[in-house]
Amino acid sequence: MPSVTEAQSIPFRFGELAVLMGLVTEKQLEEACRKQNSLRMTGSKSRLGEVLIQQNVLTVEQVKKVLSEQRKRRTAEADEALPMEYFGEYKLLAKLGEGGMGTVYKAKETLAERLVALKVLRKTLAGNQKFTQRFDREAKLAGSLNHANVVSCFSAGVHRGIQYISMEYIEGETLKQRMNRKGGKLPEEESLKYALQIAQGLSHAHSKGVVHRDIKPDNVLLGKNGAVKISDFGTAKSFLDEESMTNTGVIVGTPNYISPEQVRGEKNIDHRADLYALGATLYQMLTGRLPFSASSALQIMRAHLEDELENPADINPLISGEAVQIVTKLMAKTPDARYKSADDLAEDIQRVLEKKAPLHATLSQNESSIRAPQRRPRARKRESGCMGILLLATVVLKAGHLLLVRAL
Ligand SMILES: Nc1ncnc2c1ncn2[C@@H]1O[C@H](COP(=O)(O)OP(=O)(O)O)[C@@H](O)[C@H]1O
Ligand SMILES: [Mg+2]
Repeated sequence: MPSVTEAQSIPFRFGELAVLMGLVTEKQLEEACRKQNSLRMTGSKSRLGEVLIQQNVLTVEQVKKVLSEQRKRRTAEADEALPMEYFGEYKLLAKLGEGGMGTVYKAKETLAERLVALKVLRKTLAGNQKFTQRFDREAKLAGSLNHANVVSCFSAGVHRGIQYISMEYIEGETLKQRMNRKGGKLPEEESLKYALQIAQGLSHAHSKGVVHRDIKPDNVLLGKNGAVKISDFGTAKSFLDEESMTNTGVIVGTPNYISPEQVRGEKNIDHRADLYALGATLYQMLTGRLPFSASSALQIMRAHLEDELENPADINPLISGEAVQIVTKLMAKTPDARYKSADDLAEDIQRVLEKKAPLHATLSQNESSIRAPQRRPRARKRESGCMGILLLATVVLKAGHLLLVRAL
């Protein structure tokens, strides 16, 4: 199993900082992360600092020193995130979101008077080549796409040493926010319509050689005007990018939606990883539940690799057999068993929306990762529903963030 060596990309995580301060080597950190993960599997909540003390790598005093530096940097970062009024030619109007790499603002181009979403790399990451390259790649890949179901990238640049990307501003909410607002799940027709548009956006990206690698409800924007747009190409890669192709062993994705081949840290991740993640997203839209629930990100990833999924129709009996068939085809563990392309998927969704049978969704029983439907007594169902909510809350807390994981 892989070990989490770096959760993207909250800067100045304890381990990162300890290395930066010269108190711990990368190797010692990796070792300690491995230890911490195996402890977590047994239910222990050991902090990295504690593990490093146990392993005689750090003294208590040194841990305190790192923690104090961490506090100092966090405060500085909070100050940095205070709304400033102007960033180059952009007038900042509101903060839209904050992620690992930076902050996204609603802004106005002062000359063109056009509203944009401005993604600005964290000041504290500006000197870090790994992040600046990733930001560059996001701009390049997003900029190479032009489709109604993909957020358009207007321009990218550097202002006072800080990189930024300006994109079309989508007034609305993320798919995740929509699901939360509607109490978890969405009606089948609505879910399929979103999935159809995501599939169309993916089809375009894939035709340009771009794999998104982090399809999930947080990265799908729903415009007030009904637009459905894929956003956040921060972890995307190009088929043509030699460097990312040779980056063996590095897993990129979000545990709740990650494909088995990404968990394995496979080298040649292709468009079918996006189809799996879209399957997990559709599963969640239809059932209101994440595909797998567990108390740690590693356990969730292991489940994507090995475990059978509960049949969506057992969770929500209103789901049609055809919708289940589509999810099943998308979430097959082996890429070869999934849809060949986002186009085939789009065709099937379109057909199911027209009450026709899907054409490309056949799958042999041994290729399916979804359990055959089971009828269960009502009382038990209600009870397990509560458990589901509890587990879900745990998983959202522990695994809702993007992880960069290095396979052992
Ligand atoms: N083009 C956009 N229009 C409106 N809001 C956006 C846009 N892009 C991003 N956002 C908001 O900012 C948040 C973070 O953006 P995202 O690109 O996903 O960055 P991160 O790398 O931090 O996940 C999104 O969840 C969304 O709320
Ligand atoms: Mg995102």
